[in-house]
Amino acid sequence: MLNACVAHRGWSGLAPENTLAAIKLAVEDGLIEMIEIDVQLSKDGIPVVIHDFTLDRTTNGTGHVKDTMLCELVTYDAGSWFAPAFAGEKIPTLEEVLCLVKGRKKLNIELKQVGELYPFMEMKVLQLIQEFDLQDEVVVTSFDQQCLQKVKATAPEIAVGLIVGRPPVTIEQLQALGAKFLAIDYSYITKSMVQEFFDQGIDIMAWTINDKESMKKIMNLHPFIRICTNHPEVWKCAIKEGG
Ligand code: G3P
Ligand code: CA
Repeated sequence: MLNACVAHRGWSGLAPENTLAAIKLAVEDGLIEMIEIDVQLSKDGIPVVIHDFTLDRTTNGTGHVKDTMLCELVTYDAGSWFAPAFAGEKIPTLEEVLCLVKGRKKLNIELKQVGELYPFMEMKVLQLIQEFDLQDEVVVTSFDQQCLQKVKATAPEIAVGLIVGRPPVTIEQLQALGAKFLAIDYSYITKSMVQEFFDQGIDIMAWTINDKESMKKIMNLHPFIRICTNHPEVWKCAIKEGG
């Protein structure tokens, strides 16, 4: 589909981000192409799906994800902060998300790795991807280039993507990482830049666009740019109305 939709942290405009509720909404939608999630490790090394390094904003817990055992993480309420109807939603493990998504949507797994913050995170995530036989259905993304290098060195068959905010970002940089996917802050995208990247076989995802007019502007730059959004319902209107 042209200007395909990536549901950012699941359908996070309608349900609490990075929960099974938000991911399920996106999985059950017929038009969304891909779901983006954020992954970190619990204190006992289990990949879990949560964006912030601390628990405070999106759960009723406090402290760092990396300092909390899984058995404690799963006791927290990750839904009430969003709306009372979601009380009792949990921080999912990556394994639970893979079970839900497998065979139904592509998955963009962002590793919230910063240097050595999470030793062995890449290995653990790759192991799960392989166990679930999802090598062809995922792209592993990160701001951290070292992390992507480790992923490529361990599992060259798995697609990786670099996430950047403000450029510069070069084709040579992506080629050196073996990355054929670039996730870039939409406010820095230009027509010449996207054409250059697509010409070199690099896919572009614009993050994170939540209003219709900005979506249309980006869609007008190139028909293959993926639109990463908390609001797939807005994307549907933008697509319907056209640029
Ligand atoms: O994949 C792009 C986007 O998710 C990166 O930013 O902070 O929403 O994880 P953030
Ligand atoms: Ca993310």
